[in-house]
Amino acid sequence: MLRKLHGLPGLVAALLLVVLATSGVVLSVVPALERSAATVPAAGELSVADLAERVVAQYPGTEQIERSLSGEVVVYYNRDGQPGADLVNPLTGEGIAPYQPSTWLRWVKSLHRSFLMDDVGRMLAGFLAALMVLICLSGTFLLARRLGGWKAMLRPIAGSGSPRIHAELARFAVIGLLLSALTGSYMSAVRFGLLPEAANTEPSFPAQVSGGTPAPVGSLIALKSVDVNELRELVFPYPDDPTDVYSLSTTTGSGFVDQSTGELLQYQPRSDGSQFQHWMIRLHTGEGLWWLGLILGIVALTVPVLSFTGLGIWWQRRSSSIRLDESASIEAADAVILVGSEGNTTWGFAKDLQNKLNQAGKKVHCAPMNDLAEHYPKASVLFVLTSTYGDGDAPSSANQFMTRLERFQAGDRLEFAVLGFGDQQFPKFCQYALDVNAALGSKGLQQMHPVTRIDRGSALQFREWGEIICEHMGIALALTHNPAPVVTSEFELVERVDYGVAVNAPTSILRFKPVQSDRNLWQRLCFRNRQHLPDFEAGDLFGVAPPGDQAARFYS
Ligand SMILES: Cc1cc2nc3c(=O)[nH]c(=O)nc-3n(C[C@H](O)[C@H](O)[C@H](O)COP(=O)(O)O)c2cc1C
Repeated sequence: MLRKLHGLPGLVAALLLVVLATSGVVLSVVPALERSAATVPAAGELSVADLAERVVAQYPGTEQIERSLSGEVVVYYNRDGQPGADLVNPLTGEGIAPYQPSTWLRWVKSLHRSFLMDDVGRMLAGFLAALMVLICLSGTFLLARRLGGWKAMLRPIAGSGSPRIHAELARFAVIGLLLSALTGSYMSAVRFGLLPEAANTEPSFPAQVSGGTPAPVGSLIALKSVDVNELRELVFPYPDDPTDVYSLSTTTGSGFVDQSTGELLQYQPRSDGSQFQHWMIRLHTGEGLWWLGLILGIVALTVPVLSFTGLGIWWQRRSSSIRLDESASIEAADAVILVGSEGNTTWGFAKDLQNKLNQAGKKVHCAPMNDLAEHYPKASVLFVLTSTYGDGDAPSSANQFMTRLERFQAGDRLEFAVLGFGDQQFPKFCQYALDVNAALGSKGLQQMHPVTRIDRGSALQFREWGEIICEHMGIALALTHNPAPVVTSEFELVERVDYGVAVNAPTSILRFKPVQSDRNLWQRLCFRNRQHLPDFEAGDLFGVAPPGDQAARFYS
């Protein structure tokens, strides 16, 4: 279930999530670039009044001063009837360059927010952000299970290939991805009315102003008391209108300033809801938090790799999934095979056992361990084939087994044999199989054969186990499943010379040559210049598999 919750949304939305993440990476550098270009006065060094005075000295027609959270100051002015906007140095008020927002960045922003569409695109982006929350949470639970519990989250990750890369990257990135996804979902939910928008705390225009002669902007007391780093926006009054006021917006609230007395009028602090909303935006965009922006950007870079490796894992699981032969019903079965598996390889061994038991005339019921029935009325033998996952834990198709076992009623004649699949490199080699064996024993079932542990899917160990089971059951059971069949090359016998037959000490020399026509392109390329033989060196074992049999016999 958890795996489906993680894999399905990832599978469906992989491409769109990659677009969202890569455009997010581009946008994440913007706050850092803006911050590196901006001059940011130390706290207490410059008031809004000082800034406005210096700007007005350079731009007499100033209409508005805006400061971004990154520290960029933009002045909007009117000169000879022509409007303009310049980036200015807040310490001197001098212009740095005309203010021209990048059209390319605007395009990337639109791609990120709405896939270059309007509301439909925005909704899609919001929906994807919510899916990402789901993917992150389910992935975190899966990772905890893989590593053997929450306390083991920082443990080295075992394995190799796509699953290992996916797990390592996900562990590194999950907090950042979750933060981006949660804040993105919140912003979308507010926009589309799914969550309430913060109460509007815009102050109403003051009913009364002094109407006196305007004082120089640098002398206005209300502006003197505000540090420039808190400024968001200062809108100047209409020239020659003594009834108009300055409108001031800061990070903590907004209000108006009388242009004659300098008094702060109708000041409204930002509500808690508005502060919260404001912080959600900052945490998503990194605005004014350039270092966070960069961290989120690096984290978003993992999304294409996570999507790619995730698709790889899905494909591996899909191609290793086994279609079982028809299973006998619980009531009719005289042999039962229960399978515990996480990555599907154990199912391959179970299928081979089922086939061979069927061939020996048995009615076999084969099912996941989680489907343990309360009773198998006719069964005389129960095989449990299980892998171990996490840190000696149950694989996913067996995680309910122990609970179900409590209600299990074994008949008098039911014997069991547990076959564990694991990897000796793990400290708790086949631990879950050992636990299951002990639990079945304590249920009073008779053990047909002691628990056997198979290391890394060894076909040889599986076959040997089958031979022992054969003897117990009195049937022929040649188990041949090999999850990783070795690549073989076909040879034909070209000469046989027998010696020593006359003296009763026969020795034969067999000469083989590779069958040319059976070689695929890869083999043909590999064998070229090697006298038509695969690579070998002295001391190697020579494995011979007779036609129709995958199990090789080894010779020195
Ligand atoms: C994340 C992970 C954790 C594992 N933990 C153990 C373990 O604790 N003990 C063990 O013997 N094998 C462990 N294994 C190895 C598997 O049990 C082994 O590869 C098995 O053949 C997998 O079978 P399955 O694909 O049917 O699940 C682990 C494998 C993985 C990928």
